[in-house]
Amino acid sequence: MQQSRARVSFLNLKPDSGSFLQDVVAGLSRARKELNPKYFYDERGSALFEAICELPEYYPTRTEMAMMQAHAGEMARCLGPDCLLIEFGSGSGRKTRVLISALEPVAYMPIDIAGAQLEDSAIALGREFPGLHVIGVCADYMRPLALPAAGHRPARRHVIYFPGSTIGNLTAPEALEFLRRARSLAGAGGAMLVGVDLKKDRALLHAAYNDAQGVTAEFNLNLLARINRELGADFDLASFRHDAFYNAAMGRIEMHLVSLKEQEVNVRGHRFAFRAGESIHTENSCKYSVAEFQALARRAGFMPERYWTDPGRLFAIHYLVAG
Ligand code: AVI
Repeated sequence: MQQSRARVSFLNLKPDSGSFLQDVVAGLSRARKELNPKYFYDERGSALFEAICELPEYYPTRTEMAMMQAHAGEMARCLGPDCLLIEFGSGSGRKTRVLISALEPVAYMPIDIAGAQLEDSAIALGREFPGLHVIGVCADYMRPLALPAAGHRPARRHVIYFPGSTIGNLTAPEALEFLRRARSLAGAGGAMLVGVDLKKDRALLHAAYNDAQGVTAEFNLNLLARINRELGADFDLASFRHDAFYNAAMGRIEMHLVSLKEQEVNVRGHRFAFRAGESIHTENSCKYSVAEFQALARRAGFMPERYWTDPGRLFAIHYLVAG
């Protein structure tokens, strides 16, 4: 009997680093200061995000996970056999495992900018699914990307899996651009399975981003700690406070770091003045009704075929087909 073996390979398409300083300086130079949320996820930030996912107030992760457990079989039937499963991001991979078990894809291609985390999770997955061809691609999936040739068995269909409602961290115009690129990566007849946080009662939203243990506050402030660590800046963390609120007009949670006093901060020779009460906008987390998200997907060239929600209608998983 032939022994099936895991086949795990890696491709490095990571863009040159060096843009962190540029992005920080550009963001803090704006009339309304801002920082890109992608910089939350250094090692400490990723660990804090994993802790957020376990918080009683943070409903998205456990809700989406329960939906995967309940509906992965149905999702696999919609997607059909012999798919190449491409995942944007490589997080803890719990939802991915449920999908892979049901779908049994030709190959699994996680794409993530965090190379070390990508390698660890790809190797662990390869061990758990002997015989599954795993191709880890270190790249920024938020930028235009050509699918690398990876030598796997020919696939009938490309399926992009993007769980976690990370699409909500883009503004609506950015999300449209992103979906258009995903559509072209999937190719005609390809598909996308995307997790999206739904609009809901603002008290529930407020609690999810202002948890009682202060983990989200620490996650937000870690951005300044990271700038201090990596760019030698002198942010005094005690002089900033976490602020998260629901902006109903924009349909999004906004996270900010608010300066508690008038102060000046130095980042590699660049000086930034803060007024008392002035904020740095660090994240948007957009919430979409099913109809709003389907309209966005249509504008990007996808046909929304179906969606799943939980009994409390907190979260949606959309199945989109590339038209
Ligand atoms: C990764 N992303 C979907 C999270 C969210 O809910 O927008 C990030 C996060 N920010 C604060 N808590 C969690």
